[in-house]
Amino acid sequence: MDLTTTYLGLKLENPFMPGASPLPDELDNVKRLEDAGAGAIVLRSLFEEQISREQVSTFFSTESHGESFAEARSFFPSPEQFRLGPEEYLDHVRRVKQSVKLPVIASLNGTTLGGWLDYARLMEQAGADALELNVYQLATNPDVAAAEIEDRTIEMVKAVKGAVKVPVAVKLSPFFSSLAHFARRLEAAEADGLVLFNRFYQPDIDVEALQAQRSLHLSNSGELPLRLRWLAILSGKVKPSLAVSGGVHTSLDAVKAIMTGAHAVQVVSALLQRGPGYIKTLREETAAWLEAHEYASLQQMLGSMNLTSCPDPAVYERANYMLILQSWRTQ
Ligand SMILES: Cc1cc2nc3c(=O)[nH]c(=O)nc-3n(C[C@H](O)[C@H](O)[C@H](O)COP(=O)(O)O)c2cc1C
Repeated sequence: MDLTTTYLGLKLENPFMPGASPLPDELDNVKRLEDAGAGAIVLRSLFEEQISREQVSTFFSTESHGESFAEARSFFPSPEQFRLGPEEYLDHVRRVKQSVKLPVIASLNGTTLGGWLDYARLMEQAGADALELNVYQLATNPDVAAAEIEDRTIEMVKAVKGAVKVPVAVKLSPFFSSLAHFARRLEAAEADGLVLFNRFYQPDIDVEALQAQRSLHLSNSGELPLRLRWLAILSGKVKPSLAVSGGVHTSLDAVKAIMTGAHAVQVVSALLQRGPGYIKTLREETAAWLEAHEYASLQQMLGSMNLTSCPDPAVYERANYMLILQSWRTQ
């Protein structure tokens, strides 16, 4: 079965790839991912705060961080707590590139325009075939309007695009108030791909100790429908290629994501639970599913469930909302 896809302009053997995570930190795992037939590899992120700490950059004086930053800085992990420092990260990109033939996507994670974005160019020089820019930010400041956050993100994307020749994907959160419009703005800023979505870390509360409880829960397939909805809405409406990230645990999850328009399928939690070899299972089961359902290729299925033909997805969404609420019957 022909599973080939084009993501960020890169021709991939298949859409399956590990999303940004610690999995490819070990070259052994990188090899196992290649043996399992991953289409590409996304490396963990290098964070703005890591780079800024080492570089004395504009980060410390940017308005968005203001005076409270000195105090806030104490919340951040110390340099030793990061698995890879900025220079080690670049070395790691070089090593991964030398050890496999797969396209390697390096990841930058931050929220402000600043000198740290120079690392985009250094990642490209280290051999990255593409970059993923993760704009992970919770909009908590009541004085900052949505438009300001969007403008800042667009400026970051433009800065990165202006610095590198390799394609750039932007990993988004689902919390933009007009995501479809923002996607269009990202397209105008020449983003090559959109990754839907990053997953917010949600602390719980320890009611005895009266403190926030930090724990990282892996995802489950229940997180997929939010991604499917936005893939279906954006598919065919924007030029950047689309990747799903979040909630892909089975080949059927992947089939749904591809049907709704995902050119690439990023998997993290399932690989952390089942190991890098699980890529092979996902790949083979998806191929078998396509064959059993008489598709000639993955390409034929891609985006077949998009909402482009729907006259008004917002009306469709609202109608479904009402129907589903009315369908509930109490016992
Ligand atoms: C342990 C762990 C580390 C992660 N590190 C990163 C990271 O460095 N950069 C990033 O953009 N996302 C990171 N993520 C988020 C994943 O790339 C992914 O978006 C998220 O886990 C949802 O996908 P999943 O449902 O397949 O796990 C991490 C997730 C986990 C579980």
